[in-house]
Amino acid sequence: MIRIGDLELSGPFVLASMSEISTPPARLLARQHGSAMAWTPMISAELLQSGDAETEKLARVVPGEEPVGLQVVGASEEDLSASAGRAAGLGFQAVDLNASCPVRRIRSKGAGSALMKDPSRLGACVGAMRAATELPLTVKLRLGETRESMNYAECASAAVDSGADGVTLHARTVDDSYLVGAHWEHVWRLAAECDLGVPVGGSGSVWTAEDAVRLLAESKCDYVAVGRGATGNPWVFAEAEALFAGREKPEPPTPQEVAETMRRHFEMLVDREGEATACRLMRSLGPAYLERVEGSEVAVATMRGVETAEALDAICSLVALAGTDDEETGKGGGEGGGH
Ligand SMILES: Cc1cc2nc3c(=O)[nH]c(=O)nc-3n(C[C@H](O)[C@H](O)[C@H](O)COP(=O)(O)O)c2cc1C
Repeated sequence: MIRIGDLELSGPFVLASMSEISTPPARLLARQHGSAMAWTPMISAELLQSGDAETEKLARVVPGEEPVGLQVVGASEEDLSASAGRAAGLGFQAVDLNASCPVRRIRSKGAGSALMKDPSRLGACVGAMRAATELPLTVKLRLGETRESMNYAECASAAVDSGADGVTLHARTVDDSYLVGAHWEHVWRLAAECDLGVPVGGSGSVWTAEDAVRLLAESKCDYVAVGRGATGNPWVFAEAEALFAGREKPEPPTPQEVAETMRRHFEMLVDREGEATACRLMRSLGPAYLERVEGSEVAVATMRGVETAEALDAICSLVALAGTDDEETGKGGGEGGGH
């Protein structure tokens, strides 16, 4: 059993925080397919405090997705602690401080991975959040600025000394951005050698269930936060759970299951965001789903330009046909979905 503070996780595979991706629809689908928990995309502590309507929307929990953690990004101790203080009331079961974001706009404010430049400041931010909430509190780190200046162990210690209940390590440097493979040996070092006394999560270069299980085993970390490998692929969690338990991986989803799940994802996005934004988001999410459907190149191309719910529905119907028996339907896959 993995415990982060007093939060008990049902398993070691969780959905990572991803801007624009790990919103409630993706989190709910991940949870229904076996993810033990998820975090929101990073949410600006400053904007959450100012009552910004879009930010408030990002900070919503939908029934059935719990446990879910509120991830905040910021550099002001006041905003961070006030946001942490609101998390339980907003329905979250945990709070996470983003000290890993490599984006210049965030770093220029001293937030995200810029917090790692000064471990004592990072500790002060964690301490301020700790004082404001009793929820389990975690911190997301990168390895450091560059391969030559990695200070994740120091930052993790500062966070834990200031009250963090867990640390998730994205095993790339800020310089690496997302472009190179993750350096899992550092997850191992943090989990097995640094004696932090709290659970350590590993993240980075987990594309498949096999990767997730391998990261867990090789690094001896407590949980694995699956990022891009879970985009359009909620099935990765049940697959990883099965492999971890020594069972066969479940059969891959059929084209009908992929189409049905993609349609549900879209419908939930429409309810939250409206049709135009939901279509914009599906232009990148849809192709990720369709990676699992053989012969879906035309559907992918159509998805990249989708503008209406009607068009998206037509793509889903074509994809579903890709898995039906030609003789039964007389249609084969047809344009956009066939083998
Ligand atoms: C599009 C995208 C957005 C991300 N946004 C966040 C974020 O808001 N907060 C965060 O802590 N990490 C964020 N990450 C990093 C992921 O949580 C995770 O650590 C990373 O994707 C792991 O690497 P992998 O995708 O190679 O497995 C993001 C990653 C991607 C690809």
